[in-house]
Formats: sequence, C-alpha cells, structure tokens
Amino acid sequence: MSVINADYLNLPGSYLFSEIARRVSAHAASNPARKLIRLGIGDVTSPLPPSVIRALHKAVDEQADAAGFRGYGPEQGYAFLREAVVADAFKGHGIEADEIFVSDGAKCDIGNLQELFSSDSRVAITDPVYPVYADSNVMAGRGGAPDADGRFAGIIYMPCTADKDFIPELPRERPDIIYLCYPNNPTGGVLRRNELKKWVDYAREQESVIFFDAAYEAFIADADVPHSIYEIEGAREVAVEFRSYSKMAGFTGLRCGYAVVPRTLLCRNARGAMQKTALHGLWMRRQTTKYNGCPYIVQRAAEAAHSPEGKGECAALVAAYMRNAGLIREGFVRKGLTVSGGVNAPYVWLRLPEDADSWDFFDRLLREAGIVGTPGAGFGPSGKGCFRLTGFGNAADTEEAMERLAAFSL
Ligand code: MLT
Repeated sequence: MSVINADYLNLPGSYLFSEIARRVSAHAASNPARKLIRLGIGDVTSPLPPSVIRALHKAVDEQADAAGFRGYGPEQGYAFLREAVVADAFKGHGIEADEIFVSDGAKCDIGNLQELFSSDSRVAITDPVYPVYADSNVMAGRGGAPDADGRFAGIIYMPCTADKDFIPELPRERPDIIYLCYPNNPTGGVLRRNELKKWVDYAREQESVIFFDAAYEAFIADADVPHSIYEIEGAREVAVEFRSYSKMAGFTGLRCGYAVVPRTLLCRNARGAMQKTALHGLWMRRQTTKYNGCPYIVQRAAEAAHSPEGKGECAALVAAYMRNAGLIREGFVRKGLTVSGGVNAPYVWLRLPEDADSWDFFDRLLREAGIVGTPGAGFGPSGKGCFRLTGFGNAADTEEAMERLAAFSL
C-alpha cells in the first residue's frame, strides 16, 4: 500500500481562504438575493491597466504568426522582462537581470523556495502571518504537530502585536530561515529602514537567510520605509526577495511574479561544513526541473507594467485601493475600534471588542451586514481577537460596506 506524506496531516483541515470561500458560498446559496461585499481575500477588482491589455493583445497576435510564435521560453523568464524589472525596481541596489527568476506568482515561489534547505532547518515566522510560510514548512516536515493554539512545535513564532507596532523582536533561538513580509500582510505594519537593517545585520551574524516578501511594496507611502531589502547594505548576502504583479498591476488572475536570488547568497553544504553553495544555482536547477516558465504573453503584459505609461496606470490603481483602505480604516475608527494598517498597506487590521472570537465575528458580519472579511485567527495564534479587511474592493462597494457597518452593532 502507498503511504502518504503524513506531514500533510499536521496541517489545518483547509487553507484559510478556501475555508472562507466555503462559508461565503454556503451563505450565498441560502441568501441568493443578497449582495455580498467581499473584502476578505486580497483579490483585486479593477480591470487590468490599458497598457497591460495592449501588450497582451499584441503578444497574442504574435502567437498567430510563424515569425512571432514562441514555444517553450526560458524557465527563468525572458530577458526583456528581467531587464525591465532591474531597471525599474532595483536600480542602484546591485541586482543583475540574471538574478531575477520570473514565475507565475509570489505565492508559488515563497512556498517552493524552502525546498532548497535541509529538512532540519529551523524556520522563524511572524505571528500573525500569511499562512503559506507556515503551511509550506509543515508540508516539508519542519512543523510537527500543532498544539491546541495551532502553533507548530518546530516553528519559531515571533509575535507582532499592536503594542509593539507589529514589529517582531529578534528571536532568542537562532533560525536558519526568517520570513518577513513588509508592508505586512495581514497587519499592514511596516519595517522602517533602521528596523530592517537590524534584521539584515542579525541574519549576517547568525548566517540565517531572510525570505523577504515585498508583494505590497507599491503601497508604501512613507519615505523611510524601504521598498526592497536590497536597499540595506549587506542584504544581497542574506536575502531572497519576492515580488508580485498581483496587487500593484491587477494580475491576480493573469499570474506573474518573481524571486530575486542574488548570486552572492551562499549557504553551508552541511551543518558545520566549510563548503558553501550559492542558492542561485540551486534555484535555477529546481526551476528548470519543475517549472516551464510563465507564459510569454503574460511576461509581455508584466513588462508593460514597467513602462512609463504602465507605471502611471498602476499607481492610479494603487491610489484607488488605498483610498478604499482609508475609508475602511475611518469606518472602524468611528466604531471605536483600535485599527492599524491602511496607510502603507492595503490591509486594515482591527482588534475586536473584548477580543471576540474572530471566526464568530466573521460569521456575524457576513450574516448581519453581508460583508466578507478575514478572521485574524486564520493568520496564527496572535491573530485571535483580530480581523482583517482589504482595500481591494471597488470604491462603490467599499462605501456601501462602510454604510452597512455604521448600522452594524459591534
Ligand atoms: C491575502 O488575502 O492574504 C492574499 O490575497 C493572499 C495571496 O496573495 O495569496
């Protein structure tokens, strides 16, 4: 008889956003006439920017023509996109085009990159956290069984709470891999330059690797919040960065992102061994074996997001989502709640009155106001008693949600 990977049995029964989708579908099925306002998963609602659409059409037409047709592309991504990325996003940070690995989105890269590390690696995550960081390591056998609070024994948790401005403390126990997401999903917190420098210095001292999830960098408004970890000296020796077109250019359906794996990032070949290997070559080996590359037409669309026109259009999308986030923020402040995020990030994070159970609140907000949010508990034990809403709805729906909220009894 075949035997499964029993580490999967340690995972929560379903992925957070699948469970939300299940509850929302059940509610919609029994209330078919009701308009639901979906501010749960961070899925964009505005159409793709015009320059992206034009690039897509053009690339589709190329496929109809023998001269323009493309079959398999480079697994790492076409040079035209990697060069556009470096020129636009990493100028002056010492990143080369061949250190960019284009993919079908940051979620896959973040979930997959842990494969390059030994199975006994210690992993540190912030809490609350984007569930992919924990779940992918549990699948790889680094979590073990969860305790009653849902904490995995094998994972180092770094609580990020409002009293600490959602900034994690350096862990007491040395991690091999540190996951940082800033601007943060779900809390909307940021790491300012001096804080991020502490993490880079720590990773250098400890020979740890930082997985830096910068999926929300386009939403940064404050000048002293770095957009890339490579703005910090020494980061090219310790950090991989993940970027996504999903939220800043509306690609949640189209799918494109990239990982930056600097050639200067070396890890030891075994505990205590002197010999080191560059992650760059290993990630190339992994991607060429398991991945055939992001579609040509999608990469042309992503390239257009880096053009001057595309950048203006993406900035307008981001501004509109941030206006929504601001409305949500104000709506909950008016209700007297402690609210964070919605300033440098599209997520608004609430502390519920009397630390109410966040799944109960989810159900009640859905039932009584027809608004879908995300329960904080789904992001980890420190998310209990908290709740997340996103600015990614459309403006009219977000305004309507705030009107419904005004009449909703907390
Ligand atoms: C979220 O809502 O946390 C994000 O949309 C999830 C994702 O980007 O995969």
